Amino acid sequence: MNRATWSGQLAFVLAAAASAIGLGNLWRFPYLAAQYGGGTFILVYLCLVVTLGFTLMVTEISIGRMTAQSQLTAYGRLRRGWGFVGFLGTLIPLLITPYYCVIGGWVLKYLVAYARMAFTGAAPMGEAAAGSGAFFTSFVTAPFAPFGYAMVFVLACAGVIVMGVKNGIERSNLVMMPILFLMAIAISVYVVCLPGTGDGLRYYLVPNMDCLRDAAGNFSPALLGKTILGAMGQMFYSLSLAMGIMITYGSYMKKSDSIERCVRRIEIFDTLIAVVAGLMIIPVVYMFAVKTGTPVKEAMNAGPGLMFITLPKVFATLGASGAWVGLAFFLLVTFAAATSAISLFEACVASVCDLLKLERKASTFFTAALIMFLATFSAIGYGPWSGVRLFGMQFLDFFDFISNNLMMPIVALLTCILIGWVAKTSYVEEEVRVSAQKFRAALLLRIMLKYVCPVCMIIILLTPFVTEI
Ligand code: PHE
Repeated sequence: MNRATWSGQLAFVLAAAASAIGLGNLWRFPYLAAQYGGGTFILVYLCLVVTLGFTLMVTEISIGRMTAQSQLTAYGRLRRGWGFVGFLGTLIPLLITPYYCVIGGWVLKYLVAYARMAFTGAAPMGEAAAGSGAFFTSFVTAPFAPFGYAMVFVLACAGVIVMGVKNGIERSNLVMMPILFLMAIAISVYVVCLPGTGDGLRYYLVPNMDCLRDAAGNFSPALLGKTILGAMGQMFYSLSLAMGIMITYGSYMKKSDSIERCVRRIEIFDTLIAVVAGLMIIPVVYMFAVKTGTPVKEAMNAGPGLMFITLPKVFATLGASGAWVGLAFFLLVTFAAATSAISLFEACVASVCDLLKLERKASTFFTAALIMFLATFSAIGYGPWSGVRLFGMQFLDFFDFISNNLMMPIVALLTCILIGWVAKTSYVEEEVRVSAQKFRAALLLRIMLKYVCPVCMIIILLTPFVTEI
């Protein structure tokens, strides 16, 4: 079977950026930035992206292109006896895709609600959202609705995947990504121009060193460490690293396209949207907090709360235009979630294709069925099964925890050891040089892969076991 390829460099950059830009950019980045001192966090994040993030992304794409395999079989091809890393790595998208699709279903529900509000003037969530977040709670705890919306989301992604790399993924990105960019710019301009957003903007963008000082006002290395770790986790998630996606997408890349240049562009797109997302969210949430007397830190709280409870409350205060802003915002979020879910889905489908030597259609069908089955747990985990706990967590949180905090750092650590010490970094360097005479950051890559990345991964792995750092 001939392996599919992207039609060109731009198509590849767009696809990888589409994967990278997702819920992580839209709600996780702004809230983390708000929590860790605004500009301080942004600066730390930028430093990590151009060093650690760059290295890992170049490495993954090179592994994919070199072996022309998805991650399940790529590691075994690279070195005998290392196939288990691919196996472990393949479990990650298999665990993440189902719950990501459940959250995609939540987003879809909000899109429908805002469309109804904007077009018919109905207020399906107006009172509830303005009051207590009851709209969100009653939806996620319902027996069937979250499952139904998640299934619609899975089927839509499967529909794109089954059409193939060029006709499915590439084309859908060509529609969704430009709309996503336009919406993001339009909403952030609208927000920045609202009267009274100055304080919120300052809160977000000006580096605030207070977050690095302890109660006595002295500089605290532990707090700096916490900020760096927060930024590192965010970077992994946001760039879709250590999930096999970049290996799979790299395997469809042409030998003539420059890996180094592509990675730089993907990083720029991803970071830009994250920063713009902060511009859309933080000033309005800040204003809302001041107006209602809520502590700012609390209003910017983590988790689904910010996107699904606080923001609808904020939109409700914008008067008649609130429904339209909400509609634009959730359309943007739907596209961002869909393009990321498609990449996750593709990582699973490609692994099944390569392992079982199946055609794309059969593999998509098989994978979609598996994902639907697994999604059921997360979808009803907040509702009828809310009493069922795994290590004290609900299904969705449990899947999120073991994939992000445990398996991803392990796979990244093993990748660094394999490339940095066993196979040697020259493998990656040569693959990069296939399409470019010069590899400018070769030295950076060598140092990062051999020394810095493994140490960072070990620290990430150990943090959950250290209670207070
Ligand atoms: N990178 C995506 C984001 O920022 C999230 C994602 C996670 C995408 C896992 C694919 C896989 O939201």
